[in-house]
Amino acid sequence: MDRRGLFGVVAGGSVVAAMAAGCTRKNASSPELNGDDPRDPRGRTWSPHQEHQAGITSPTPAVTVIVSLDLVKGADRDALRRFLKMWSADIEALMAGRKVPGDPLQDMAQPNVSLSVTVGFGLGFFRVPGLEKYLPDGLAEIAPMKHDKLVEDWSGGDLVVQICADDPTSAAYAQRILVRDAKPFATPRWVQHGSWRAIGGDGKPITGRNLFGQVDGTGNVLEDAGNKIWTDAGQSWFTGGTMMVVRRIEMNLTTWDELTRERQEKAMGRTLDVGGPLSGPNEEMKPLNFSARDQDGKLLVPIDSHARLSNPASNGGRTMFRRSTNYTHDEGGKTTHGLMFVSFQTSIPGVFTPVQKRLDASDALNEWTTAIGSAVFAVPGGWPQGKFLAHGLFA
Ligand code: HEM
Repeated sequence: MDRRGLFGVVAGGSVVAAMAAGCTRKNASSPELNGDDPRDPRGRTWSPHQEHQAGITSPTPAVTVIVSLDLVKGADRDALRRFLKMWSADIEALMAGRKVPGDPLQDMAQPNVSLSVTVGFGLGFFRVPGLEKYLPDGLAEIAPMKHDKLVEDWSGGDLVVQICADDPTSAAYAQRILVRDAKPFATPRWVQHGSWRAIGGDGKPITGRNLFGQVDGTGNVLEDAGNKIWTDAGQSWFTGGTMMVVRRIEMNLTTWDELTRERQEKAMGRTLDVGGPLSGPNEEMKPLNFSARDQDGKLLVPIDSHARLSNPASNGGRTMFRRSTNYTHDEGGKTTHGLMFVSFQTSIPGVFTPVQKRLDASDALNEWTTAIGSAVFAVPGGWPQGKFLAHGLFA
């Protein structure tokens, strides 16, 4: 049995794991095709009442919207308590597909649209008087990188909400409700939209592709990463939490398209057709062999390839779980492309930044990729029924 067969990817290895992750599945969109494959993102109803928030290791559905918000001036601890209570009630209703409290559009919420809402707190959140002592270990700014061209408009934020769903209408509805109800407390700073296609032509789940055409997400083996991304970060209120990074990375498709297929594959260290290691055999889930050489003595997985440099083995075992999606941005007649890179890990300075620094120093992909936005958030665990998100902050 291969690694995927043994451990499962992304969704959690087994139906049992998917259920434990907080999913019920009624009326799957096409059960005759998908059965109960835990990697299938479609037709799910996720629950916020789990150890971890939804939308982290669950399979990535077609639509992701990320809204970063800034707290309004004067928002104090008591106001944040009311705000998080209200948002929690909204999230519970939205994810279950029930009428949202106080919403006149009572027919919009639906179950089985794979809606997940994931909330995180930025550094500014912990500057609110009374909350300073709750700052979790491992939440810190990312040092600027040599290749970054960061713009304020895509960076930072006191709060984040990541909304994922099977379709743009369901995500847009959740976005509108959450932004509307946040209004007395926080206002949007930036909004990013991403899309993902994790379903093959035969209707079965696959690892999706980024806009370079690469199979992206192979390394997300839950059995490897799942237990390495959760942390209480030294704070009891943060049990079941994780640290989130959002990077908006522009991809130069014009110059990428000019490369030969061989150069494209060498830059990654994996094949384009199935995402197999260049060290062979050409199967997606086969491990990379970093010492394999061709008959001229050249490393088959090049020294500057992204797959080699980002692998936990090249980074002292540092492990992250990625949930990136593709973006296109249209302005006038001009379209730019990129990856809305999202990763979850136990610590930003302890895990993310060292890997990012290594990539910044020598990743072959740097020639075609530029980070234009960057933000970090602490994502607390889920909450039990009758309580609310991060209730431990207000005990
Ligand atoms: C536009 C930018 C990027 C592209 C196109 C890209 C693409 C890919 C692809 C195709 C893979 C191989 C398949 C897989 O294991 O998922 C991969 C792996 C990986 N990437 Fe990226 N990536 C980008 C940025 C980043 C950044 C900024 C980081 C973190 C600082 C990162 C960390 C990783 C990690 C940890 C792996 C898994 C390595 C393994 O387990 O073998 N990537 N990436």
